Amino acid sequence: MKSTRFTSHICLLFSFVLLFMLAPISSASAAVLADGQYSAQYVVWKADSNSTSTANSYFEKPAKLILKDGKIKAQVTLNNSSWISSFKTLDQGVYKDAKVISTNTSANKRTVEFNVTSLTDVVPAKVSVTVPAIGYTGNYDIRLKFDAASVQ
Ligand code: HEM
Repeated sequence: MKSTRFTSHICLLFSFVLLFMLAPISSASAAVLADGQYSAQYVVWKADSNSTSTANSYFEKPAKLILKDGKIKAQVTLNNSSWISSFKTLDQGVYKDAKVISTNTSANKRTVEFNVTSLTDVVPAKVSVTVPAIGYTGNYDIRLKFDAASVQ
């Protein structure tokens, strides 16, 4: 009887140890990830529903995450860059232009960077599109959703 109780205590202890070991993987956030660079999958959702936006195919995957002092910056590459005249993300209540990190004119791509408060919350964003050849312009709200479990 005594040894059964001892065994169950040991099992419980191991379960806790396992849980703590797995915690950083299951809840990737700045609090549990060490400073450094990571990659993360993400998807661009429509403004009003958790479904993939047309904009998704213009955002290359994965994103690069840069963690420093508990803060997260995400870098994403936009293709057909010349069509995307503006890309802003919500940052502390204000839509701010994502910072251009690099531009590859011949590939028509640019890599931009923005702050991310939490990998589990969506990042509201605004995109302006101009395709002169077909006279298409659009100003849209979109939302970036990171897959915290994909961070590596
Ligand atoms: C030749 C290029 C493109 C064409 C012909 C095109 C066409 C369209 C059309 C017909 C709609 C639906 C009508 C509307 O909601 O106003 C739409 C919606 C939308 N487009 Fe474009 N588009 C183009 C490029 C882009 C690009 C480069 C982006 C962004 C990076 C973009 C982002 C969106 C968004 C966010 C919507 C709103 C619906 C959603 O979120 O799926 N489009 N587009």
